[in-house]
Amino acid sequence: MTILVTGGLGFIGTNFILGHLASGGDRVVNLDLATYAGNLGNLSHLPAESHLFVRGDVCDADLAARILKEHRPRAVVHLAAESHVDRSIAGPAAFIQTNVVGTFALLEAARAYWDGLGAAEKDSFRFLYVSTDEVYGSLGPDEAPFTEDSPCAPNSPYSASKASGDHLARAYYRTYGFPSLVTHCSNNYGPYQFPEKFIPLMIINAMDERPLPVYGDGRQVRDWIHVEDHARALSLVLDKGAPGETYNAGGRAELVNLEVLERICSILDRLSPRKGGSQHLDLAVHVTDRPGHDRRYAVDCGKIERELGFRPAYAFPDGLESTVEWYRVNRGWVESVTSGEYRDWMRSHYGQEG
Ligand code: NAD
Ligand code: TYD
Repeated sequence: MTILVTGGLGFIGTNFILGHLASGGDRVVNLDLATYAGNLGNLSHLPAESHLFVRGDVCDADLAARILKEHRPRAVVHLAAESHVDRSIAGPAAFIQTNVVGTFALLEAARAYWDGLGAAEKDSFRFLYVSTDEVYGSLGPDEAPFTEDSPCAPNSPYSASKASGDHLARAYYRTYGFPSLVTHCSNNYGPYQFPEKFIPLMIINAMDERPLPVYGDGRQVRDWIHVEDHARALSLVLDKGAPGETYNAGGRAELVNLEVLERICSILDRLSPRKGGSQHLDLAVHVTDRPGHDRRYAVDCGKIERELGFRPAYAFPDGLESTVEWYRVNRGWVESVTSGEYRDWMRSHYGQEG
């Protein structure tokens, strides 16, 4: 048996594929364009019989059709996306192309493939669209977390493009009976995350004695889930979820950004103290806020817990400690992804060298 994973060279895709194969999962065909966010080295140690990498664009429906015909997967896990909010503000076009046009192209290719399957294969086929809690928009401080029934109210080009994919996946189920499922996960952290995102950016900048750029007052709230917990949630939804359904997943760890930064800095103060007795937090600087910055995200995970038995295994303090340690130990990985393109982004967005 085979599954097709898109975006498998990225942060969540890498962790999903490693977890899937480690738990005895079936062979993976990994369709990824290897953009700045995808790193071939993450999975290059895997044997060809368990992981086949195909470099290509999810917008290329003919390529997807050829892959589906040749490898006959039992499921598609669609992760490929442009994923960074700040980049979506600086240049939304790539987000519309990959996240909207690409999701549509992949759905069309998968629907044609699914239409041609025999009854049993057709019945068990699944298309999992990996979305985000950001499609629900922003919560006030005292509002209850988002449920699967909360209205979609995206505020950034990124979340709007992801919400478009949600709507397409839902419509394909309603209209064609195509067995799509959607997940809305909260902010992930853990190994292999590209250091443009908050947690790895802060770890790497702090280790390199560079400024720690806090947007606005730093009082925004995110719910953090360890990426391995998210990967387990995806496997559960794939195996036990009902077609046409949506599942929220989160880590039950709502934290203010400044508190996350303080925790990172105190871990580093302990593991690798700065010279001269100063603290890593002294590197923090408040910078101009992100336009349209969502104040708070939080998801109600009652449905996935009740119906599929999901429980996050990581407590945030332990997960954060092992993540900081991973970035300390894997300096070679960091060097390999912070290339010229990364430096260009750091210079244009923060006015600093990467
Ligand atoms: P990422 O940016 O680390 O990885 C994205 C991957 O997609 C990269 O390997 C990239 O090369 C590939 N890709 C980009 N455009 C492509 C294209 N046109 N064709 C084929 N491949 C392409 O992202 P991530 O953090 O691993 O997120 C994966 C998915 O999970 C995304 O759909 C994202 O919206 C969703 N998600 C992420 C989070 C999070 O906290 N990171 C939370 C919830 C949901
Ligand atoms: P990010 O990792 O970009 O995830 P998202 O915006 O998708 O939730 O950012 C997490 C939080 O950290 C968000 O409130 C924005 C904030 N942030 C900063 O304060 N400074 C930064 O340099 C970055 C990248 C993010």
